Amino acid sequence: MAPWQTDWHLARTALDWQLDMGVDEAICDAPISRYDLPQKRETAQTPAPAPAAAPAAPALAQAVDPVAVACQLAESASDLAALQAALAAYDHCELKLGARNLVFADGQPNARVMIVGEAPGREEDRQGKPFVGEAGQLLDRMFAAIGMGRDNPDPAKALYITNILPWRPPQNRDPSSDERAMMRPFVQRHIELVDPDILILMGRISAGTMLDTTEGITRLRGQWRKVMGRPCLPMLHPAYLLRNPPMKRHAWEDLLSLQATLRGAR
Ligand code: URA
Repeated sequence: MAPWQTDWHLARTALDWQLDMGVDEAICDAPISRYDLPQKRETAQTPAPAPAAAPAAPALAQAVDPVAVACQLAESASDLAALQAALAAYDHCELKLGARNLVFADGQPNARVMIVGEAPGREEDRQGKPFVGEAGQLLDRMFAAIGMGRDNPDPAKALYITNILPWRPPQNRDPSSDERAMMRPFVQRHIELVDPDILILMGRISAGTMLDTTEGITRLRGQWRKVMGRPCLPMLHPAYLLRNPPMKRHAWEDLLSLQATLRGAR
């Protein structure tokens, strides 16, 4: 038996190390030693032939620009199903490799209000739907307080929900600026296709990405801005509200402001 199988402290250190490396789930009850498994490919045990000389790289080979590819794919999507397929086909974001599911959207595509969050968490990654974990449940309660919900078929009371990133970042880390830049063309096309009257930018990452600012969300929240020619309201993220309950009063102010704007806007 390995020492960490009998010593609690060693086992704990080994577990912490795995968490640091990004492991967040146990797949089997017992560990598997990959060294003890039979070699799958026979060629792995025979000496490899000497490599042929690599062909010279073309002098003017162009590196792929992930943002340009994203723009091209997003612009060619003529409806939501095509946009989802375009995202699924996009291979330049490494987050895709670690995610279980592509989290595209939830709610009613004919809603007047579209919410743009940050990125899926563990539960969203499992279910393939945005905002279904603890923060999502708070989000549902917040909007229910002003008579709105993702399941409401009435466009005036409905919500359509998506995120800046469709794949879960490991350990819910902040998405990098490169990752946000790659996904922005898809989010913009998503907004064009849904064509909501009002956008809610839920949290720091969403507001920062769509408004192209590093200003803090506690300053931005509650201030109506414009994104792609339509009114948008940055709000405090429900995950932040769960950690800072006294800030819920600001979320309530913003919900009332949304309600008033919706009443006045049509
Ligand atoms: N937080 C987000 O911003 N989006 C989700 O889908 C879940 C949590």
